[in-house]
Amino acid sequence: MCGIVGYVGSRKVSDLLLEGLFRLEYRGYDSAGIAVHDGGAISLRKRAGRVQELARLVDEQPVEGGVGIGHTRWATHGSVTDANSHPHVGGNGEVVLVHNGVIENHDTLRDHLQSRGYVFQTETDTEVVAHLVAHHLDERVKLGDDPGETETYVRAVEITLTELKGTYGVVALFRDLPETIVTARLGSPLVVGVGEEEYFVASDASPLVGYTDRVHYLSDHELVVLTPEKMDVRHRDNGRVRPSLQTLDQVADDTDLGEFEHYMLKEIFEQPKALENAIRGRLDEDAATARLGGLNMTPRQLRRIDRIVLTACGTSWHAGLVGEYVIEEFARIPVEVEYASELRYRNSPLSENTMTFAITQSGETADTLAAMRELQRKGHPALAICNVVGSTIAREADGGVYLRAGSEIGVASTKAFTSQVMILNLLALHLGRTRHLSFPSGERFMRRLRELPEKVEQALACHEQVKEVAARYHAFDNYLYLGRLYNFPVALEGALKLKEISYVHAEGYPAAEMKHGPIALVDERTPSVFVIPKGGIQPKVMSNLEEVKARGGPVIAIACEGDERVAEIADETIFVPYVEEHLQPIVTSIPLQLLAYHVALLRGCNVDRPRNLAKSVTVE
Ligand code: F6R
Repeated sequence: MCGIVGYVGSRKVSDLLLEGLFRLEYRGYDSAGIAVHDGGAISLRKRAGRVQELARLVDEQPVEGGVGIGHTRWATHGSVTDANSHPHVGGNGEVVLVHNGVIENHDTLRDHLQSRGYVFQTETDTEVVAHLVAHHLDERVKLGDDPGETETYVRAVEITLTELKGTYGVVALFRDLPETIVTARLGSPLVVGVGEEEYFVASDASPLVGYTDRVHYLSDHELVVLTPEKMDVRHRDNGRVRPSLQTLDQVADDTDLGEFEHYMLKEIFEQPKALENAIRGRLDEDAATARLGGLNMTPRQLRRIDRIVLTACGTSWHAGLVGEYVIEEFARIPVEVEYASELRYRNSPLSENTMTFAITQSGETADTLAAMRELQRKGHPALAICNVVGSTIAREADGGVYLRAGSEIGVASTKAFTSQVMILNLLALHLGRTRHLSFPSGERFMRRLRELPEKVEQALACHEQVKEVAARYHAFDNYLYLGRLYNFPVALEGALKLKEISYVHAEGYPAAEMKHGPIALVDERTPSVFVIPKGGIQPKVMSNLEEVKARGGPVIAIACEGDERVAEIADETIFVPYVEEHLQPIVTSIPLQLLAYHVALLRGCNVDRPRNLAKSVTVE
């Protein structure tokens, strides 16, 4: 959460920072600000609201210079105001910095600094860091360090970092050191981009795209000093280290909206392509299995696995639930799906042969990262199913599988969910083929996977019909989403999509569980969305649907093409093509994504930037 960008070089820094902030806005959009050094002084521009507001301010009050930092905020400490927007100023203006993360001991540090005469202008935890750096700078100079020397500033930052409890990605500018920025990381991602006599720093690589493809990802406890000529990387424990440069393979037009009005809609329509990418080169025709070399495990090791733990948050957790069903069905290995925020603090017993996966689109979710590290600390190799190449989880995992879904920018996850389900199907096939799954069954499984992108293309044809349904139902304030077996996680996911972008209350439930409580909610003002495609369990779901109808509840059904029985009973029926049950979540989630999208639009909500949310949840 929160997006950071910084630059040293000779470009017009305010334009570059604003462009970077627009690209990072999905990480937080409560407020935005920049600080620019013109060689003599640092100018600050910051404003509550979207980056567009800041751009307007900079237009009215331009700032000149070639060194600067910027920030787009997702508020943690302190309300959304101009004053609480980053950058924050330390001391008498000798330090200006931006920060992502949470400083847990900010209260104690604030008291300490106030007792020494520091005056606070904001309610943020970040201002504490700014004053603390200023304080240590002052101390260093009193002790005889040269105020014109970079090392004096680096030392002040290093001492400050040792006093912080919590997480940070921080970038600092200094009034009396015009050509330098200092950046450091613990728990909040940062990447340095290397150009010709210029350097960039950002929370993720998106602001760098089009400027450079050479990057260094900071590790925890790394501090980097950047001047136009040089990048100097130091590690708290290892001293100076060589940057590990990598090549970025993101392309600029990934972030273009093209013909679409919103990223969410664009990403919904990208799903056939994303699914094709997920299976490309991963189906081994000769062995009738999936090729997942990134797992870094031999068939013998795979054969020994006796349990799988999948850990994730939000939508990725829902994908994990589908993973549980499909792996247990085809590979016959017991699977547990754990919320990462719970797993990280639990002391769950794990057998030696437990295989663990973190499932994450961004690869930066703080709880998922912490859960993965906890597993690794206990000696378990932790693998990842991840979308963002070069993200922290992708780098720290012991192996895994990339989604290859392309950038997902809309805050509501869509194509990442279906791609995760696809990868979990590949994993089930791969593990199944080391065990009971026969060659012909493996071939059948692969055939279905290959057909899937086309089926999703067909499912997208429901768009117009979903739009009409949304027009009739958008004014309702409570919804139930119901499904069973493979479509129970789809019900959870459908409800989450509606909640997060339209602010409408929605509950996802296993359809049969409804009788144990939620059925009390059913009335003519509470629509139930039934996910009821063809399959072994369908007659049972049908009974659940009848139970709702009998109580006067409106029903929107997601059913298979030609299923007239459902259509006769439900008030609205949205048809999708039939696919095998283990792949149904990929198809049945499409109309639910579209429904959430259109309900949100009709309720006047910001679909890509829903309130209170951010794309990457990098705080606990
Ligand atoms: C919902 C959504 C979130 C994320 C969750 C985990 O649409 O996007 O629930 O799924 O924050 O994020 P990742 O997958 O990046 O770890």
